[in-house]
Amino acid sequence: MKQKIQDKFASLYGEGGVLYASAGRINLIGEHTDYNGGYVFPGAIDKGIMAKLKVNGTSKVRAYSLDYNEEVEFGLNEEDAPSQSWARYIFGVCRETAKRGGKVEGFDTVFAGDVPLGAGLSSSAALESCFAFAINDIFSNDFNLFELAKIGQSTEHNYCGVKCGIMDQFASCFGKQGCLIRLNCKTLEYKYFPFDPEAHGYKLVLIDSCVKHELASSAYNKRRESCERAARAIAKLHPEVEYLSDAKRVWLEEVRTQISEEDFLRAEYVIGEVQRVLDVCDALERNDYETAGEMMYQTHFGMSRLYEVSCEELDFLNRIARKCDVSGSRVMGGGFGGCTINLVKKELYDNFISVARARFTEQFGHEPKVYDVVISDGARRAE
Ligand code: GLA
Repeated sequence: MKQKIQDKFASLYGEGGVLYASAGRINLIGEHTDYNGGYVFPGAIDKGIMAKLKVNGTSKVRAYSLDYNEEVEFGLNEEDAPSQSWARYIFGVCRETAKRGGKVEGFDTVFAGDVPLGAGLSSSAALESCFAFAINDIFSNDFNLFELAKIGQSTEHNYCGVKCGIMDQFASCFGKQGCLIRLNCKTLEYKYFPFDPEAHGYKLVLIDSCVKHELASSAYNKRRESCERAARAIAKLHPEVEYLSDAKRVWLEEVRTQISEEDFLRAEYVIGEVQRVLDVCDALERNDYETAGEMMYQTHFGMSRLYEVSCEELDFLNRIARKCDVSGSRVMGGGFGGCTINLVKKELYDNFISVARARFTEQFGHEPKVYDVVISDGARRAE
């Protein structure tokens, strides 16, 4: 990938330029908790985006996507938004940098990525973080990593229509090889946890259903609205509740008749999930992978039945995992398709993968994909 980027850059834009890289992410547990002010527990992975950038002395950006074999040129004012969705991410990052007082002028760039699209591994956050980091560097702005993550998040909100939380961009910016990161999304306090399942006889593996259901972003935004309604109802009785994650389970009961059944179920899932992140971190500190795994199954149940962001294919993969004695398994990321994340004892790995492949293919007519998880570094210079 690096060589292809170098070659294309040289042929289109000549000498010079600096290479940057950023990463997709996994999340061990803590799903749909970020925009509720709760905890998440992600890590960056060895699949990401790489881009070469060079200031070009004009007021235009010339960007070439190697994956789409397409070049787009755009200006840096609000009305210059390109129509290609991949280019809107870069444009959004430029705009959000400028809105925060950062310097952004014209530049040339060639980029490519190897994060599977639609797999729930945050290819978009990888793209945003790569460019947020790179633009900060080439124009000598001094935004810190949190500000860069927020530039990516605001790009999603304002240029891509997804009212996402901070998890993906945070993981993509702060990722560190061999570590998961527990982030409190309300206070932004975070802690690195060395994570080496292999040393304890386990493997972490993703099974990609290769399905992406329509309307995922509007369904995502609706989940967020449900949570905000529930939090507002609880806050009337308990003013200290700013986010749903501040609420106790019994407080949710108190407003049961004031909110819809649907909002109640969504909130019930989130309050349980916030606690599960803490429980998993405690379990891992004791090297208790079985308890961590059991929590993952509970999360799957919640995401499927209460939060309703799973789908037939992912529920199927989850059941197969149970049958194959996999220690933990659940839908990962926003949901509505993508991957399950699975914590499996090494000696059960081969059987699980072959059974999952065969049964899934028989049932749905296409093979799932399998990715071993390698926890890696986040946004950085790549030279
Ligand atoms: C998507 C969003 C994140 C987070 C997850 C669910 O990946 O971008 O902010 O809400 O879904 O945990």
